[in-house]
Amino acid sequence: MRLENKVAIITGSASGIGKAIATKYAAEGAKVVIADFNEEALHATVEAFKADQKDAFGVKVNVANEEDIQRMVDDTIAHYGRVDILVNCAGVLDNMQAAHNVEDAIWNRVMDINVGGVMRGVRKVLPYFQEQKSGTIINLASISGLQGGRGGFTYTAAKHAVAGMTKNVASHYGPLGIRCNAIAPAQVDTGMTQSTDGYDMFGLTQSVRGVKGLMHRVAQPEEIANIALFLASDESSYVNGVVLAADGGWSAY
Ligand SMILES: NC(=O)c1ccc[n+]([C@@H]2O[C@H](COP(=O)([O-])OP(=O)(O)OC[C@H]3O[C@@H](n4cnc5c(N)ncnc54)[C@H](O)[C@@H]3O)[C@@H](O)[C@H]2O)c1
Repeated sequence: MRLENKVAIITGSASGIGKAIATKYAAEGAKVVIADFNEEALHATVEAFKADQKDAFGVKVNVANEEDIQRMVDDTIAHYGRVDILVNCAGVLDNMQAAHNVEDAIWNRVMDINVGGVMRGVRKVLPYFQEQKSGTIINLASISGLQGGRGGFTYTAAKHAVAGMTKNVASHYGPLGIRCNAIAPAQVDTGMTQSTDGYDMFGLTQSVRGVKGLMHRVAQPEEIANIALFLASDESSYVNGVVLAADGGWSAY
């Protein structure tokens, strides 16, 4: 039980990578807060956890909304008395829009969720973490946060921002006993990557250039959750400020 009695908030945990992380954390003894925008999937996930005798609590949250983030953390503390781990997993794609095709609405939405959501979550939990002199934050970046040509323009900008925020928090708050790391997956088999409807085909073509034959397979969400478990547990006590590529060696080529 590597997370025994730890309280973990996981945004975007009603499906995909976030749900796999919540499942792994609960199996390791954590009390998990399922925080998601999709109310139906949120309730189904919480009920499934409870049916499996896992301690789970659901909060409907749009991470782009400051009041929702406040409520997510306040309700967690009211319910469980504390918070030890925040996983900023909620995120959306930009339909692979290349720079010359960026639509303002897509730019604003992706930035509000993928960047603003992380900022708001971090800003809210840090005072609690400082008070208890411990706490761990894990952000979902992407290989698009480490490399330039593997996503749309806005998503790439957003995930680079996530990598930067991760290092900034690690550097500023590490001396206070708080750690902040990020995971940078390539392609993971979730709802996010299962359709290319509405994609910018120029952006998509450019993004997969050179990938064929180099990425031997996509990842399963559980493989990303294993990393999130390591980063949340004391086993990674000396790891702070890393943006860990999880791409099967693809970017090492
Ligand atoms: N799937 C991939 O290939 C991949 C690769 C690299 C990084 N990532 C990142 O991993 C994270 C999770 O992706 P996924 O593949 O699990 O996606 P997903 O679409 O399967 O799940 C995302 C979840 O986040 C929720 N969500 C979306 N917007 C939200 C909001 N504003 N507020 C609260 N919840 C919201 C959705 O309801 C959904 O349950 C994202 O940050 C994504 O950018 C994914």
